[in-house]
Amino acid sequence: MPNFPENYPLEYRTGCVQFYWRNFIVTPDVLIPRLETECLVRKARETIHSLKSCTLIDIGTGSGIIPLSCSDILSIQEIICLDISSEALKVARENAESLQIHVPITFHISNLLESVLNSNIQLSDQPIVITANLPYIKNEDWKNMSVDTRFEPKIALFGGKVHGFELYEQLFLQLLELKKCTLQTITIIIEFGFDQNQIAKDILSQYPWDSEFFSDYSGIERFAQVDIK
Ligand SMILES: C[S@@+](CC[C@H](N)C(=O)[O-])C[C@H]1O[C@@H](n2cnc3c(N)ncnc32)[C@H](O)[C@@H]1O
Repeated sequence: MPNFPENYPLEYRTGCVQFYWRNFIVTPDVLIPRLETECLVRKARETIHSLKSCTLIDIGTGSGIIPLSCSDILSIQEIICLDISSEALKVARENAESLQIHVPITFHISNLLESVLNSNIQLSDQPIVITANLPYIKNEDWKNMSVDTRFEPKIALFGGKVHGFELYEQLFLQLLELKKCTLQTITIIIEFGFDQNQIAKDILSQYPWDSEFFSDYSGIERFAQVDIK
């Protein structure tokens, strides 16, 4: 048995984790999936089920747990996985291969939606569902984090120096751009921190969009589904 440092996460030791009834490969290049993210997956599945067809874009895909946990839904015509980390995308691709995903799935290095907006990725003509569990912890806010998180990639944890919600702020501006390029409906489902509900509400209230907030298993409202208009 190799000698792991103290507090080294079990998931990195074994290289796998169960999420939404499936086994996923995890390495220190990706965030260890959190149980609460299943709430995002449930909502995304519900939304996708309500559509006849759609393109699913997952931003900040990490190990790919979110899109791969939705990939059995027949209305999905295409899955696009985006991440700024090429190492994370490699893990997501391995997971897609080992789970034998049948829907067309592609992996792209992208700063949020940049590759889509630069037309490096062509979208097919159908409703767009976007999922995103972006880094949302305030930079270097170690005091509120357990010791084992120190082994996770910083790029998967920290979202900015003001409140941590900055990447979502950038993404919302990009969504305005995306909406100008398509007549299709765009729905985004996001996860944020347990203490960011008011920040999310204040920022989203500046946009002409319909937002629905929903809770995790402990009743903390830390997800939103937003219809981009
Ligand atoms: C909190 S992790 C979530 C990983 C996975 N979606 C999950 O739920 O377990 C955030 C992911 O976003 C990626 N990321 C960070 N900054 C990004 C950016 N500007 N554009 C795209 N992806 C980014 C990180 O590399 C990381 O994989």
